[in-house]
Amino acid sequence: MTAADLPLREELRGIEPYGAPQLDVAVRLNVNENPYPPPAEVVAGAATAVATTVNGLNRYPDRDARELRGALATYLAQESGVPLSTDQIWAANGSNEVMLQLLQAFGGPGRTALSFAPSYSMYPEYARDTATAWQTAPRTEDFRIDRDVALSAVADHHPSVILLASPNNPTGQAVDLAHVVDLHDASDAVVVVDEAYAEFRREGTPSALTLLERCPRLVVTRTMSKAFAFAGARVGYAAASPAIVDALQVVRLPYHLSAVTQAVARVALAHAEQLLARVRDLRVERDGLVSWLREQGVTVAPSDANFVLFGVFPDRHAVWQGLLDRGVLIRETGPAGYLRVSVGTPSEMAAFRAALTEVWR
Ligand SMILES: Cc1ncc(COP(=O)(O)O)c(C=O)c1O
Repeated sequence: MTAADLPLREELRGIEPYGAPQLDVAVRLNVNENPYPPPAEVVAGAATAVATTVNGLNRYPDRDARELRGALATYLAQESGVPLSTDQIWAANGSNEVMLQLLQAFGGPGRTALSFAPSYSMYPEYARDTATAWQTAPRTEDFRIDRDVALSAVADHHPSVILLASPNNPTGQAVDLAHVVDLHDASDAVVVVDEAYAEFRREGTPSALTLLERCPRLVVTRTMSKAFAFAGARVGYAAASPAIVDALQVVRLPYHLSAVTQAVARVALAHAEQLLARVRDLRVERDGLVSWLREQGVTVAPSDANFVLFGVFPDRHAVWQGLLDRGVLIRETGPAGYLRVSVGTPSEMAAFRAALTEVWR
């Protein structure tokens, strides 16, 4: 039997599964991971929490993950200065799952999701998988959102969901919050600001969490995959009005977040301060990388994230391959001619700079 014999949805025929190559090379800077493993205290605390949890694995986990959501509310309030209650927080297996649930609840047949290209390549997949129509409006040449373009896209497409990554992936810059307010007020949509990389934003850049009270249809998604060095645990979350959280609970699978996941996430959150100190180091490393790349004469998009988009190369694949041949894996993604590199440890960044210097020669 081949796939052609299966009653597969037409729009899924011939589609390859999403994902960057997982290659076994010395320096992996291609999926915006945190290069530092969790600190020893988190490892020890998580090991104890897992042992305790495994003892009770005959029972289903807390379906509502209330303890974890409470800890996330406390963390977000500390990080952003915005007071939040447990009822305003939702958690799932990565922010990918949170956003899929948002499309399940607020998208669907006959509805449209809108975003601004280039942006995170999973967004059209959430739309496709939930049978939501997908529309994009273009960003400016320097990857910002233009107010007039944004408002006319809303008028043209009447989206029920608007997806804005801030900082944007793959371009790196945080969105101007005035645009979030404009899009919210000009539409009836649920406006999702995907802040997967928010902890890496530059000094003085506000989080969209500050708009939650002002904008009742706003959802801010975050993840523990990046700042918390917990990509393998799969924990993402959202802050929104309790009415939106209630809607997400309708579409979630029962017991979607395992007891082990909930337990280890709580341990990591208890060490937030220590983990965020590493984020500060990565921001310094990022700013150094941006300056170095600019000194080499390439175009570099400003970055509020733990990655940097740079170019423009007539043959970006050759540059990507040249780096890979020297044991450095980055990502061939984004607008034509650009490449994206994640911020690693100082020694990984030294290896990247040395390899790129050789490739250029
Ligand atoms: C912009 C953006 N949003 C969301 C995610 C998903 O993160 P996770 O599902 O690990 O929380 C990523 C992952 O790289 C991302 O780049």
